[in-house]
Amino acid sequence: MAITEARRFVTALLAAWPGIEDAELIVSELATNAVRHSASGRFGGCFTVAVQADHDRIWLGILDQGGRRTPQPLPPQTDEEGGRGLALVAALAASWGVTGDDQGRIVWATLNLTPEKTAVR
Ligand SMILES: Nc1ncnc2c1ncn2[C@@H]1O[C@H](COP(=O)(O)OP(=O)(O)OP(=O)(O)O)[C@@H](O)[C@H]1O
Ligand SMILES: [Mg+2]
Repeated sequence: MAITEARRFVTALLAAWPGIEDAELIVSELATNAVRHSASGRFGGCFTVAVQADHDRIWLGILDQGGRRTPQPLPPQTDEEGGRGLALVAALAASWGVTGDDQGRIVWATLNLTPEKTAVR
């Protein structure tokens, strides 16, 4: 499944990177969203995972095929109906955002490598 492959791609690429768990979670949420909420989820659709890793910072981007909906965190909900993915990404990421339009969007997030994370390895 493409979402599993997207996560494995990040896992393999960032094997030695101390922030890898957060990176895996973010890429899973964003890839799931691309398939569930954008035109990438149509038959024959696709999405692209882009990673830029620096020594102290990582940039993750999921490029989708656009569509009518717009990525936006939903207000906190008390039930189990979802709407938590982007709120989780926003909480984990140092920064995040969306570019593009209905023809294709990039939802991106950055993670900083903090000294505490370095110290536990
Ligand atoms: N790539 C995307 N393209 C278009 N709309 C998006 C995209 N990602 C998210 N959205 C919109 O933003 C909303 C919030 O996304 P979020 O990931 O927070 O919740 P969810 O996917 O509905 O539920 P959950 O992630 O908790 O299973 C979605 O319901 C959808 O309408
Ligand atoms: Mg989601």
